[in-house]
Amino acid sequence: MERTSPAGDAAEGTGTPAVRRWGSIDPLLPAPGFTHGVTPGSAAAHCGARLVVAGPGGQVRAAGRCEHWTGAPGSLDVSWGAARRFQLTALVADQQVADGLDRLLSLWRDHLADVPATAGEDTAAVVNWPSRDADGVAALLRHGLAPLEVLAARTTPRAAPAEVPAAIPDGLPPCPGGSRIRQAGPADIETVARLGVEIIRWDSRFGTVNERTDTLAAMRTEVAGLLSEPDPWTWIAGRDDTGAVGMLSAQRPPAAGWITPMTGRVPAAYLMLMFVAPDERGTGVGAALVRHFHREIARAGVAVTLLHHELLNPLSAPFWNRHGYRPLWTAWQATPASAVR
Ligand SMILES: CC(C)(COP(=O)(O)OP(=O)(O)OC[C@H]1O[C@@H](n2cnc3c(N)ncnc32)[C@H](O)[C@@H]1OP(=O)(O)O)[C@@H](O)C(=O)NCCC(=O)NCCS
Repeated sequence: MERTSPAGDAAEGTGTPAVRRWGSIDPLLPAPGFTHGVTPGSAAAHCGARLVVAGPGGQVRAAGRCEHWTGAPGSLDVSWGAARRFQLTALVADQQVADGLDRLLSLWRDHLADVPATAGEDTAAVVNWPSRDADGVAALLRHGLAPLEVLAARTTPRAAPAEVPAAIPDGLPPCPGGSRIRQAGPADIETVARLGVEIIRWDSRFGTVNERTDTLAAMRTEVAGLLSEPDPWTWIAGRDDTGAVGMLSAQRPPAAGWITPMTGRVPAAYLMLMFVAPDERGTGVGAALVRHFHREIARAGVAVTLLHHELLNPLSAPFWNRHGYRPLWTAWQATPASAVR
């Protein structure tokens, strides 16, 4: 992703204080820069707008980079959010964060008002803001943005060697209710894709995710790619009588490179899909799948695992927190993009 830009040059002035603040509020954040505004799956172009807030002495107090992204029709990306996204990466110096961000968001709002496409219904304005940088929250709310999605992180605990098995015994740990966990393979594309679409259907209640007419086809393509890899990090929980009741699918660090700029820790893995059938929830199937995945994570030497969840999904935050995940970035959104105030 391009790193230098008019706003990027100006951001030099905010760099050192922002590094200090980010480093102190959250050790998992990356060094501040314009590379942590990634949009899943595809490159987004910096639109060239100069978004710089200067102090009375001319010093840079805040700088932003706005990227305009259009999802490829038929891609899975457009099921995870709006088809067109206008994404601000905001760097604010550590003095008067609320005021610096407020002024930067005003500049961005004025910029978006000059872009006719922001009025389209299938658009979103998005700001990824460090979840623990609470001083920015009031400004984000004031500008009509809602916190809808979280990128959560779990650092791999240092386990005593005895707790990390050299190999998973037969890869078939039992789950509650008589299910067993098994690794998925190419024969499971349809099962995993169907459960993957169930996640999108469930999450579409919460403001960002949309089931599209071609979501199932896009999910099949994605899953086929995942399951064509040797030793895929995709597991199914199932019973002989009912078939699959749950599923977890993750990207190993090389495949998760697109999301790695969101953290300073490497190697990073990404948990893409997790679903348990409604009738089976609350019985421990999800916990068994996650525990199995975490054993693989530990064996592979992964430093941090990332996942997205909808903030308003009442099942997600408690479940992930129970398993060691906590908010790293919060995606604040307005839909349509012209709704930024
Ligand atoms: C999140 C999800 C995968 C958890 O799977 P699960 O099999 O229900 O997980 P568990 O049974 O191990 O744990 C669920 C927790 O909720 C509690 N719970 C109780 N009744 C429940 C119910 N009817 N539904 C869901 N959870 C319930 C459980 O007791 C447990 O709490 P605990 O850890 O304090 O014991 C599952 O709810 C799900 O598929 N949700 C819809 C899709 C989704 O949100 N996916 C995650 C996207 S990021």
